[in-house]
Amino acid sequence: MSSGFDQMSSWSRDVRFVSGCILMVFATTHFLNHALGIFGVATMEAVQDWRYWFWHSWIGTVALYGSLIVHPVFALLRVAQRRTFRMPAREVVQIVLGVAIPVLLIDHIVGTRVQGSLFGQDESYHAVLRRLWPGLALSQSLLLLLVWTHGVIGLHFTFRARETYARWRDPFLLVAILIPLLAIIGFSVAGREAQMMALPPELYTAQQVDMFNLNVTWAKRAFFGLIGGFAGFVVLRELRARALGAIAVRFVGHGVRRVIPGPTLLEIFRRFGIPHAALCGGRARCATCRVLVLDGADDLPPPGPNEARLLRRISAGDHVRLACQIRPKRDLQVQILLAAKQRGAGPSGAIDPDDRIGKKGLTVMVADLRAFTALSERQLPHELMNLLNRFYDEMSQAIAAHGGRIEAIYGDGLMAVFGLETTPARAGAAAIAAGGDMVRAVEALNREYTNALPLPLRIGIGIHGGQAIVGAVENESMGRREITVGETVMIASQLEAATRRLLSDIVVSAETVSATGRSYRDTVPHKIAVKGRDKPMQVYGFGSTPAGDPRADEARDDGRGAPTAVVEEKPV
Ligand code: FES
Repeated sequence: MSSGFDQMSSWSRDVRFVSGCILMVFATTHFLNHALGIFGVATMEAVQDWRYWFWHSWIGTVALYGSLIVHPVFALLRVAQRRTFRMPAREVVQIVLGVAIPVLLIDHIVGTRVQGSLFGQDESYHAVLRRLWPGLALSQSLLLLLVWTHGVIGLHFTFRARETYARWRDPFLLVAILIPLLAIIGFSVAGREAQMMALPPELYTAQQVDMFNLNVTWAKRAFFGLIGGFAGFVVLRELRARALGAIAVRFVGHGVRRVIPGPTLLEIFRRFGIPHAALCGGRARCATCRVLVLDGADDLPPPGPNEARLLRRISAGDHVRLACQIRPKRDLQVQILLAAKQRGAGPSGAIDPDDRIGKKGLTVMVADLRAFTALSERQLPHELMNLLNRFYDEMSQAIAAHGGRIEAIYGDGLMAVFGLETTPARAGAAAIAAGGDMVRAVEALNREYTNALPLPLRIGIGIHGGQAIVGAVENESMGRREITVGETVMIASQLEAATRRLLSDIVVSAETVSATGRSYRDTVPHKIAVKGRDKPMQVYGFGSTPAGDPRADEARDDGRGAPTAVVEEKPV
């Protein structure tokens, strides 16, 4: 009964998504039109004409009403595919909203578009507002909020696994709050204005009233019939599955669970509260639910298009599958690959995704005290610790003053990141400025410790900006630690190592310098070999006091700012 049903899930997700987007575009234009009520009914109607130009055309009508039918049907199919109703609260909210919306929406659609098409009933704002205000104002505002909340939650869970979404999340949230708020204000202002208009009362014929009631009744019957049909299907399927008997699913580290075949592995996690990650909520978009199938892989159907595409994208190994896409029908043994040891799982076992994990455009600084071994051999331990404490004090102040964060300290060096809260351009400039302050602070320490130091302190700093993976590692003995990893960190570290060879206190990649949009004086261009890059990398060696050069800014503007000579380093 269910295999064909299951195979639909690959493309039904896309149908649901596209139809949901069309409905969201309609809702956005509709609500923005309501918001114009703040400026009066006449303004609303002027824009309404433009809106109708598209949504009343045959393309707009097919897209809108097609989506209105297709979206709930495919959403119900998805709900019916569930074999457990243990799920995160947000998914329960989506289902409840999805069922409540049509109940309120049917009256609205029949009262406007259907009656308008059948009887030429006036659909302009002043006429509709007079019908709705004030008697139906509350239910219509509630409908607006339900539709908007449902759409916003859907978009959020669809896109939140994407890297770019993290950058747009705050503006998205702002828009998500402003649009319904302004729409309700506009609706209220215009509703009052429409009530005060000196217009003759609308008269309805008995045929119009009967037709309205008939349409509403049949539309609601069809909707509730659809829900009843799906509920009946789910009950029958459950009875059949029970008659077939249970299978054993063994989860490495979590024991064996006996289940009636049918649910996805993700649903089994939820049913038994097994800790797991499922960032996209089972939409085959995030791969955080992936498992290694240790036994029984051959009994599973091959991955569908969405699963196969995602597994390819993450270069998954053999027998790695997405828990949200497989429905075991025979005994199975699996190992959860991600988040199996994370804490903070909810009652369904879902681990709340950490929004701070992801890829980010950052500037990474790696700094190191030079000749530290020689220094440590000639200093008494407590003197050395005293010196290191002073050194890290100064370094952390310089880094924090420019908005950076120290990520790691290792004996004589540190790694810091810039750009967690700002743009890459500003992050690069901040890191270079912090580097200058750090070098000056080391010079000041040399003056302070003149007689106590066997050799002067020197620091080397490498700075490089690019995409880096930010996240956290956590275990019982060390707690939680924020970390940044990736190629950007490795390059910054190699630039720090290059400071000795290039005889510069600070070495910054040319990409980072140009991203700042600034010019710096006293810099020497070099090309150096960097592991992981085929071609030599262009870098700038800075003196101890990097600073923007106004003359260089002018020169750059008229094309004279480009370096005139490049010192090329032989590959190492
Ligand atoms: S939960 Fe996101 S891919 Fe399975």
